[in-house]
Amino acid sequence: MRLWGTEEEPSRDPAFERLNASLPFDRRLYPQDIRGSIAWARALARAGLLSPEELEQIVAGLEAVRAELEAGAFVFAPTDEDIHTAVERRLTERIGPVAGKLHTGRSRNDQVATDLRLFLMEAWPAVEEGLRALEEALLAQAEAHLDLIMPGYTHLQRAQPLRYAQWCLAHAWAFERDRERLRQAYPRLATLPLGSGALAGTPFPIDREALARELGFVAVAPNSLDAVSDRDFVAEFLFLAAMIGLHLSRLAEDLILFASAEFGFVALDPAYTTGSSLMPQKRNPDALELARAKAGRLIGHLTGFLIVLKGLPSGYHKDLQEDKEPVFDAVDTLQALLAVLPGLIRTMRPRPDRMRAALEEAMLATELADYLVRRGVPFRQAHRAVSALVAEAARRGVPLSALPLSVYRQHHPAFDADILQVLDPTAAVEWRSAVGGTARPAVQAQIQALRERLAR
Ligand code: ARG
Repeated sequence: MRLWGTEEEPSRDPAFERLNASLPFDRRLYPQDIRGSIAWARALARAGLLSPEELEQIVAGLEAVRAELEAGAFVFAPTDEDIHTAVERRLTERIGPVAGKLHTGRSRNDQVATDLRLFLMEAWPAVEEGLRALEEALLAQAEAHLDLIMPGYTHLQRAQPLRYAQWCLAHAWAFERDRERLRQAYPRLATLPLGSGALAGTPFPIDREALARELGFVAVAPNSLDAVSDRDFVAEFLFLAAMIGLHLSRLAEDLILFASAEFGFVALDPAYTTGSSLMPQKRNPDALELARAKAGRLIGHLTGFLIVLKGLPSGYHKDLQEDKEPVFDAVDTLQALLAVLPGLIRTMRPRPDRMRAALEEAMLATELADYLVRRGVPFRQAHRAVSALVAEAARRGVPLSALPLSVYRQHHPAFDADILQVLDPTAAVEWRSAVGGTARPAVQAQIQALRERLAR
């Protein structure tokens, strides 16, 4: 049964029907579609367009259709183009012609935009929770190993010592920004299109504010044409997903390196690695590699959908049907990753011996320059003196601490016998006590600040 059209309507090429149909993917929106329709029926009744009996029939009918869908008992018809037409077709079969009143003053254009927004509004908390779990896991690592020192890198070259906690927290802050962005985007997402009709608004006295409240929206779209054209909320969600994916990917890449034999800074729990079908000694970081790869897919959804949008004139176009698959896939991808990564982080074990072994003395050259600075030497001059010392140590094939004081003095007279005290990774991290630095109190302050945000 078709919901509209005439008997004389030419039959369509079945291949075109298949191309045109969104049912294979948008059937997932049935809970939102039925919620939206029930709320719309109530709004129609409030506006005097449905009698109390008609409303009751429609609501009971929609609930019965929902039960069929939930039970997997709903039989889709070849003429069901999408979930909206499928639900209405079935409602008509169940309750008869009164079902025909449901679509009064409504279009699939405002209906589909409402459904997809509702879907994302429901997906939001799980993403938020996943990020929170990840931050908690990173925080737990930071707290459990507060005094563990590892090499920090720039250009992937050993640079300066870092607290391991500083590395953990660096990633936690990135996820905290993602959480903040989700929170900020929510009111834009939770803006109600329903009541905008096909493009020009609804000709009946619908109380859209009440409709918004009933469906959990926080605002009403202020312009009907914008409301049916606007897919900013999709693009914005895909950006959030891409950004989270990117942060997961960078965390994963750090850990893939750190878990390799070459670095050996962390041991991953076997629950998150695989063996090789050929090489018995291998422990492969598949979970992390998939996190790295799936970021590409999430970024692809964002760029792909922005390109769908960029040339569209105002109003609804079938192009917009392409919004759903990237949204569903991005939600599923994020959920799959966020279900795994917190556990991987929680269970991984840092390896202090390997970190210590990688802390070569040359990483403390900056400390020598800062030592001179504390004695009033201009930094540029100090840098030059220490560069010469580093070169001298390399020429002799000894660490910096093995050069005699006389050699230090040759390069700068301000050097004294206490220089050995600065050639110490712990001293190096402790000097950095300004906000955001690696000193113990500065790192503890970060932990506390992050904990406070998580508690809000
Ligand atoms: N299946 C369509 C979509 O996903 C629903 C809206 C159809 N509207 C229309 N004017 N053809 O976008």
